Amino acid sequence: MSTYGSLFRVTTYGESHCASVGAIIDGCPPGLQLTEQDIQVQLTRRRPGQSNLTTPRNEKDQVHIQSGIEHGVTLGTPIGLLVKNEDQRPHDYSETDLYPRPSHADYTYLQKYGIKASSGGGRSSARETIGRVAAGAIAERYLKQVYGVEIVAFVSSVGKIHLPFTTGPSSDDQDNDDIGDAVSPEFLKLISTITREEVDKQPTRCPHPETAERMTQATKDAQDSIGGTVTCVIRNVPGGLGEPVFDKFEAKLGHAMLSIPATKAFEIGSGFRGTEVPGSKHNDPFIARDGGKLGTGTNWSGGVQGGITNSEDIYFRIGFKSPATISQAQQTAQYDGTPGTLAARGRHDPCVVPRAVPIVEAMAAIVVMDQLLIQNARKTAASLLPPVTTLPPTMILPPGAK
Ligand SMILES: Cc1cc2nc3c(=O)[nH]c(=O)nc-3n(C[C@H](O)[C@H](O)[C@H](O)COP(=O)(O)O)c2cc1C
Repeated sequence: MSTYGSLFRVTTYGESHCASVGAIIDGCPPGLQLTEQDIQVQLTRRRPGQSNLTTPRNEKDQVHIQSGIEHGVTLGTPIGLLVKNEDQRPHDYSETDLYPRPSHADYTYLQKYGIKASSGGGRSSARETIGRVAAGAIAERYLKQVYGVEIVAFVSSVGKIHLPFTTGPSSDDQDNDDIGDAVSPEFLKLISTITREEVDKQPTRCPHPETAERMTQATKDAQDSIGGTVTCVIRNVPGGLGEPVFDKFEAKLGHAMLSIPATKAFEIGSGFRGTEVPGSKHNDPFIARDGGKLGTGTNWSGGVQGGITNSEDIYFRIGFKSPATISQAQQTAQYDGTPGTLAARGRHDPCVVPRAVPIVEAMAAIVVMDQLLIQNARKTAASLLPPVTTLPPTMILPPGAK
């Protein structure tokens, strides 16, 4: 469906070549100061044409607030956001009238709906993500103002070129059970300090100049495309978010991330590499934190245990496939089964990860916002009850603990 969230509900609308795309956001708290410019910052970061890895489609992606905000303040009513599609060129796609694009969504949309948008990717196009990014900017503004939440995503690999010291693929070294290889101290330091300004210094959005340069060189082939990964960290999320058992925090995060077009993989914390090391090395021992609460000395859990946030940094990685549309001729079949070759025309992203960065940040903000409103509703409801004094000590925190 086109709606995500329970209490912070985001509905996106629009196809790649229709009049406009956008979102309705229901459940934003009233009284939040919000202007179009607050939303525009992230939309501008998502725009195409900012590096040679992205499509040259020229869109300003200027957001227009339609409802829910007056005098720069949210009313608590549904917020309508609209972005015009200005650089539509339906004729770019005429070959695909005959051919479903291999590994794109043309054929599956027809199988499902029996009808599809006449050109471009329709709803499966990345234009749809404009509504997500706009909604995420609103969630993020509230989260930052009230809780100091910081969300930063960056490109951690393009093809086989990886940012050093990020969570990497499994090592072939059978005897190496050192978790430090997967989640190194340098990586943990990076995610605890990285800013969007640092990320945006490189057009590839990989915050390591030498690796960024190698990524740029590796994507010079204008006839082909390549995949990559985006790593994201969410800092200062309060503990207690997530709704076990089916709506565990990482399940909501995984759902949100895997709904982004072109995603193929999601891992949180130590991820797949963490499966290869024993518990004695993988466990996160508890330590006392300022204010009397417990924290963890390491953070292989990625900030979530039992499906509930534990106040540590939440970090995760998403795998994006190579975009399906390539100008190189491919042997395939037409809709009627006739074999043939397709060399797609039109404007396409050779690699989606630099543009996926603000989309990942937006979906992260939407998930945190929704889970926060749910937990706050529960806490408010519980706080209205008289205190219970009859429980055995094993059911509650001991005196002095927080
Ligand atoms: C930012 C972004 C830009 C994209 N640009 C393209 C593109 O130019 N060409 C293309 O074939 N797919 C592109 N995609 C991916 C398609 O939208 C997506 O792969 C396609 O709809 C098939 O869906 P699936 O990959 O989710 O299965 C892009 C995805 C994102 C997130």
